[in-house]
Amino acid sequence: MAAQRQLIARSEELQDGGRGVRFEVQWHGETAAAFAIRSHGTVHAYLNRCRHVPTELDWQDGRFFDSSGQLLICSLHGALYQPDNGLCIAGPCHGLGLFKLRVAECDGQIYYLPETDI
Ligand code: FES
Repeated sequence: MAAQRQLIARSEELQDGGRGVRFEVQWHGETAAAFAIRSHGTVHAYLNRCRHVPTELDWQDGRFFDSSGQLLICSLHGALYQPDNGLCIAGPCHGLGLFKLRVAECDGQIYYLPETDI
């Protein structure tokens, strides 16, 4: 049976380089923290789990971008990730990527689209 899409935010809640929204997903049989942000007009979502140490990235609830609003930053040791693909471009997990999640935006709403095999 296909997993149901999950409403995570209204479109206006996500501004380019601004606050993200946190939500939860089922990931390999466990509930895991996730987040969605908007960058260059497109919404992206990832597990909220740094690739250096598996801790949540946001230093304040929903604050995922660095001060430039261009890169995602881990609050613990400052790893920097590209918001469009989750690739770490600086820091202790350089070259690794955040776990990307599928999302869709339609009719002013943003949905998480669960994978059927996780
Ligand atoms: S835990 Fe994220 S950079 Fe170390």
